[in-house]
Amino acid sequence: MRVIVECDNGAMSKRAAVFVANLVRRKPDCVLGLATGGTPVGMYQELVRMHNEEGLCFSEVTTFNLDEYYGLAPDHKESYRYFMQQNLFDHINVKPEKTHVPDGLADDVDDHCEKYERMIDESGGIDLQVLGIGSDGHIAFNEPGSSLGSRTRAKTLTQETIQDNARFFESQGEVPRFAITMGVGTILESRRCLLLANGIKKAKVIAEAIEGSVTMQVTASALQMHKDVIAVIDEDAAFLLERRDYYQHVEDMTEEWERMCDKG
Ligand code: GLP
Repeated sequence: MRVIVECDNGAMSKRAAVFVANLVRRKPDCVLGLATGGTPVGMYQELVRMHNEEGLCFSEVTTFNLDEYYGLAPDHKESYRYFMQQNLFDHINVKPEKTHVPDGLADDVDDHCEKYERMIDESGGIDLQVLGIGSDGHIAFNEPGSSLGSRTRAKTLTQETIQDNARFFESQGEVPRFAITMGVGTILESRRCLLLANGIKKAKVIAEAIEGSVTMQVTASALQMHKDVIAVIDEDAAFLLERRDYYQHVEDMTEEWERMCDKG
């Protein structure tokens, strides 16, 4: 896993946006896996800026979001579909029919989840999956105890997640109790994962996910099994990492390594 530590949330967001933008430039019809929550907001702002000022074009891009609250309509202000429209889709030239978010109102959830998986397959698979991390170590809504081979399905939210996400709702009682979420197995099939985290509240769980054991109690730790993960985190979130100096050393040596490879 490549671990990049940036000084703050702004620098983290810009660095993460460069990975996304480089892919979109190199492969205009790429498939992006997208995340919600507070963490990726700055990255989306930077992508919108790149679209407006640098002509970054999303017209051929396909997107799949990780998850959606069960029971919320797409136009509900706290739905993840609404979040994506507000924070990204409405400000770039992605084609609406190429954006996918699980349907929180699906009648037949199992059937909907199977179709979601099939659509990802038929699109050629996700090239780059953006991920945040929950304070209980979840990726998407794969709460502790989720199988590391899990696929898109309905999931019961933990009390901790409900409390964390209550800040977006009028009251805790309004936070949905269930979600439809890509599974850990689905996420691990993405060709590359980009894990973002900022703030001291994420320090413990980031240390567990990156340097702890692989366990379904911290589903983000499953990323250790993936061959191409880039974690872009800020100083606060990196606070409890033991091998931080080495991660920085690797970054410092990258240029030298590339120079040596060029010569060879
Ligand atoms: C939700 C989402 C996750 C996200 C997490 C962290 O639970 N389902 O995809 O990573 O929140 O959110 P935040 O970035 O606001 O800390």
